Amino acid sequence: MYLSMYSFCSSFPKKTMPPRPDLLDFHGVSMTHYFTDNWEKIQNFQARPDDILIATYPKAGTTWVSYILDLLYFSQKKPDRQTSNPIYERVPFLEIMIPNHPSGTDLADSLDSSPRLIKTHLPIQMIPKSFWEKKCRVVYVARNAKDNAVSFFHFDRMTYVQPEPGDWNSFLQRFMDGKMVFGSWYDHVTGWWERKQSHPKIHYMFFEDMVEDTGREINKLCSFLGLTSTTKEKDQINNLVQFDNMKKNEMANYSTVKAMDFKISPFMRKGKVGDWRNHFTVAQNEQFDEDYKKKMKNTTLQFRTLV
Ligand code: A3P
Repeated sequence: MYLSMYSFCSSFPKKTMPPRPDLLDFHGVSMTHYFTDNWEKIQNFQARPDDILIATYPKAGTTWVSYILDLLYFSQKKPDRQTSNPIYERVPFLEIMIPNHPSGTDLADSLDSSPRLIKTHLPIQMIPKSFWEKKCRVVYVARNAKDNAVSFFHFDRMTYVQPEPGDWNSFLQRFMDGKMVFGSWYDHVTGWWERKQSHPKIHYMFFEDMVEDTGREINKLCSFLGLTSTTKEKDQINNLVQFDNMKKNEMANYSTVKAMDFKISPFMRKGKVGDWRNHFTVAQNEQFDEDYKKKMKNTTLQFRTLV
């Protein structure tokens, strides 16, 4: 089995891990070289018509929806799959590239499953054209900006292949400035939202809705994907993907990844809506809200910051 970026790093003791990467400006989007080094192959990636692209801004619930889709498609047909490989190997990360290791595109090319589930954090304008030409279905998950920023902060603290996060205040400022890996949250969520208006094959979901009623969101996914899973199957899946169960599941909780330091923060951290209230000061919140109104004034996209 191919190694992912994260398992690649598991072969390094922490002291010899590569230094944290710097942010770079890539066609107007902040990135690190891990996601741009393979650019030609990414742009020329050949999608298959039944591929399902899982697209998110980082920390919006990518792993959660990946696991749900993997179970919906394969838990009956290939029950061993759930215990054989971690989720990040079953659902390749399209744009990732680590020297001397199979890239996300190579890993996706090597998959013989049907459908292939492929994860991306790319903003809408950077999606390889073949996904549109082949009319692939896309599941996009969005999360409210405040919780998304908090989750991203803790992720960058504990993940050595991410840029140095700095303190919370400077991180939040960078988030507002769009200087994050994969660029501006504001551009990402609105860019996908605008495309969804004219594109029937994009299913736009919200993290907050999944927390509120996971079963309802699984039903919506089944309708979108044309799946006829039974109520019993869906109930089983709903149970497996609850936060506490995923947190205990080594194939879903990233605990096998040594590039992440769970002593700093676990990957499955809180899984809540509204945790931002434990991080934002009153002043930060006011400044954020004011800036948010300006940045989001031209979109119909609405988020909930509490449920
Ligand atoms: P927190 O850091 O707020 O806990 P991604 O997979 O896109 O990196 O997103 C990770 C975020 O999704 C983390 O948020 C994680 O805890 C949350 N998450 C993952 N699985 C979840 C689940 N089953 N229920 C609720 N939240 C979940």
